[in-house]
Amino acid sequence: MKQPFFYDITLRDGNQALKKPWLIDDKKIIFEKLVELNVQGIEVGFPASSETDFNACVELSKLAPDSMVVSGLARCTKNDIVSAIDAIKYAKIPRVHTFLTLSPFHMKYVLNKDPDVARKIATESVKFAYDNLLKENPKGQVQFSVEHFGDCRENLDFVIDTLKEIVQMGATVINLPNTVERCRPKNFIQMVERVINELDKSVIVSVHNHNDLGMATATTVEAYFSGAIQLECALNGLGERAGNTNFYEVAVALHNSGIEIPINLSKIYETALTVAQMSKVPIWEKAPLIGSDALAHRSGIHQDGALKTKDMEKGAYRPIHPSLIGRGDDEKIGFTSQSGKTAIFEIINRAGYPISLQEAIRIQPVVKEAAEKIGELPTSKIIDIYFSETFNVKGDFKLENFRHINDGKFEFEFTYKNQPYKTTGVGNGPVDACLNALKTNGFDVKLTHYEQSSLDEEILGAGSTAMSVVHLEDNCGKEVIGRARHGSTAVANIKAIFNALNIIYKEKASK
Ligand code: KIV
Ligand code: ZN
Repeated sequence: MKQPFFYDITLRDGNQALKKPWLIDDKKIIFEKLVELNVQGIEVGFPASSETDFNACVELSKLAPDSMVVSGLARCTKNDIVSAIDAIKYAKIPRVHTFLTLSPFHMKYVLNKDPDVARKIATESVKFAYDNLLKENPKGQVQFSVEHFGDCRENLDFVIDTLKEIVQMGATVINLPNTVERCRPKNFIQMVERVINELDKSVIVSVHNHNDLGMATATTVEAYFSGAIQLECALNGLGERAGNTNFYEVAVALHNSGIEIPINLSKIYETALTVAQMSKVPIWEKAPLIGSDALAHRSGIHQDGALKTKDMEKGAYRPIHPSLIGRGDDEKIGFTSQSGKTAIFEIINRAGYPISLQEAIRIQPVVKEAAEKIGELPTSKIIDIYFSETFNVKGDFKLENFRHINDGKFEFEFTYKNQPYKTTGVGNGPVDACLNALKTNGFDVKLTHYEQSSLDEEILGAGSTAMSVVHLEDNCGKEVIGRARHGSTAVANIKAIFNALNIIYKEKASK
C-alpha cells in the first residue's frame, strides 16, 4: 500500500464555512498546528476571494516547510489562477487547485453550460495554470477537482475522458469530491475505482468527501484502500454544512488498520481543542475520539471492562488508548443509575480517598439512589456520600463519650438502640479496652487488622487528619472495615470501632 497523503483543507473549505472566517493571525495558528501534525499538504485559502485571504496565503506559503505542498484554490478563470499563483509561489512546492463541475445536474442548472463547453473551460484552465505556475517554479503542481464528482454517475465516461485530457494538460493530481454526500460510500468508491483504473498510474487520485449523511470518514478510508492516495480532510471536520471529512478519524482509522502514516497523532487532542476554541464550533460531546464522552463509560458492565483493561493498549470499550491522541484524561467513569461498584471504587480512589471494593459495594445503594434522582453524579456528591457512609456510619450504636481513667482503664458511654450504656474496659490501649468493654456487654467482635494513616484533606482545606482503619470480625467470621478520621488518634480509633459495629449490626439485622 502506498503511504496516504494527508491534504488538509481546514484553512480553505473549513474556513469558508465559519460564521466568522479567520484572519491571517488565526490562520497562522492553525497552520502551525498542521505543521506539528506533520500533514503533507495544506490548502491555505482561496486567494481570489479577498485581499485579506490573498495576503494570508502569501504569508503561509512563506512559512511552509520545504517538503510541504501548499495550494490555493482557483475557479477556472485566468484571474483566479493568476491570483493563486501569485499567492502561493513562495512555497517550495506550490500547487494551483482549480475546479469545475462536470455533473450533468450542475452543468445544466448552476453552470449553465453544455458539457463540451465545460470540458473546454476545464482543460484550458489547467493548461493555463500549468504553463504559468511552472514558469514561476518547476516544482509547481496543478490539481484539478471535478466538483460534484459524486453526482457524475450517469456521465462517468465523459468525466473520465475529460480527466484524461486534463492530465495531458499538466494536472498531476485529480481530486474527486463528494461535494454533497447523497448515497452509499460503495457507489462513490466504485466511481473512484473506475477513474483510478482508467488514468495513468502516475496520476495521484484524491478524494474530498463532505459529511452530509455522516459517512465521509468511511468513504475516505475505503477510498484509500481502493487506491486513492490523497485524502482531503479538515480539522474537527470543519467545512460546508455538515462539514468535511474529519482528519482525526481518518488518521486513527488508518493507524488502527495497520497503515503507516506520517501524522503526529499525539498532537490531535490539543489541536482539536485549539480549533474548537478558534472556530467557535464546539466539540460535540459524542464526537468520535475528541468528544468529552468519547472515552466515557457509564454502564456497570462497560465500567468493569474498561477498568480491567485501563492500562492496556487495547481496551475493552475504546478504539484507542487515550494517550495515542494526546488525551491526558483517563477514560471517564461517570456514575449514573446504570453504574456499579467498580465505578464507585474507581471514582473515590481517583479522588485520592481510600476505599475497598467491599466498602464500595456497601455504599452502592445510597449512591445509586442519589443517581436515580439527580442523574450523573458529580464526583463531589459521591465523595459526600462516601464521607457520611464511611466516617459517620448511622446505625444502632452511638458513641457518646469516652475517657481514660488510669493505667489501661477507660470508660465508654454509648447507646445501643437508644439504650444507654456506661461501661469500663481494661486493655493495652483504648482500642483493646474498648473491645473488652463491648464484650462485657455482649457485643463480641474480634479485631483482625488495625492501621493508622493520615488522610490528606487538602481538598477540604483541612490539612491532614488522622485516619484509623479497623477490621472487625463478627461471631460468624464476617469481616467488615471501619474507618474514622479525627484530629486525635485515640478518638479516631474508637470512632472507627463504632462505625464498624454499626455496619456489622446493620448487616446482621438485614439477614
Ligand atoms: O466540495 C467541493 O467540491 C470542493 C471543491 C472546491 C474541491 O470543495
Ligand atoms: Zn468541499
